[in-house]
Amino acid sequence: MNNESIIGQTISFVKQQLKGDSTGHDWWHVYRVWKMAMSLAKEEGADLFVVQLAALLHDIADWKFHDGNDRKGEILAAEWLQSLRLDDVTITHVCEIIRDISFKGAGVKTIMQTIEGKVVQDADRLDALGAIGIARAFAYGGYKGQEMYNPDIEPVLHQSFEEYKKNSGTTLNHFHEKLFLLKDLMNTASAGRIAQERDLFMKEFVARFLGECEEPILN
Ligand code: ADP
Ligand code: NI
Repeated sequence: MNNESIIGQTISFVKQQLKGDSTGHDWWHVYRVWKMAMSLAKEEGADLFVVQLAALLHDIADWKFHDGNDRKGEILAAEWLQSLRLDDVTITHVCEIIRDISFKGAGVKTIMQTIEGKVVQDADRLDALGAIGIARAFAYGGYKGQEMYNPDIEPVLHQSFEEYKKNSGTTLNHFHEKLFLLKDLMNTASAGRIAQERDLFMKEFVARFLGECEEPILN
């Protein structure tokens, strides 16, 4: 099978897996990450085939059946790529990217080994920023059942993945716990520039949100 049909079949597989998602990990998230990763890959000279597969498969672990198994995504991706008879080197590379891509807390380092991993991670993180990032944070917060905002709960900079996963904070705190940190964690300069601009928009959003909380009641 040629690379183009592998990508085509993978797109159909991912659409099927993510159908009905309302947590912000839907097909259109994957689509944006895929497009952004390709454009960063061209700039950075990364292998486009590996980048596309990793971007398409990075959130494959079905949200409906997420049972706390952190490795489910790489296992499912490996099974899928084996079913397409892809070579082991490519499968291992794609699965390593899927394993290392996620943000695991403010104090936890997740270092991508290859340029392919770096651009996919940047593309995924860019989709957590800006207008879409704000929408995804509130969608995810609603799904988790967390409060939107509560001035009595302080943000926490988590030092371990366990702590980060257990987090029972508010969505507004998530901006301080993750989203505002991302602009300084980009691997590539082009992603860094986009992140900077999206970060400013989110800061303005949070400032307005807090401002509206304090606005005097008109009479
Ligand atoms: P990723 O797969 O990008 O490493 P996650 O699966 O943790 O990250 O997050 C997916 C989306 O949900 C992101 O837009 C992220 O900011 C948002 N999100 C994750 N955790 C929270 C949370 N506790 N509150 C609000 N939004 C969150
Ligand atoms: Ni993602």
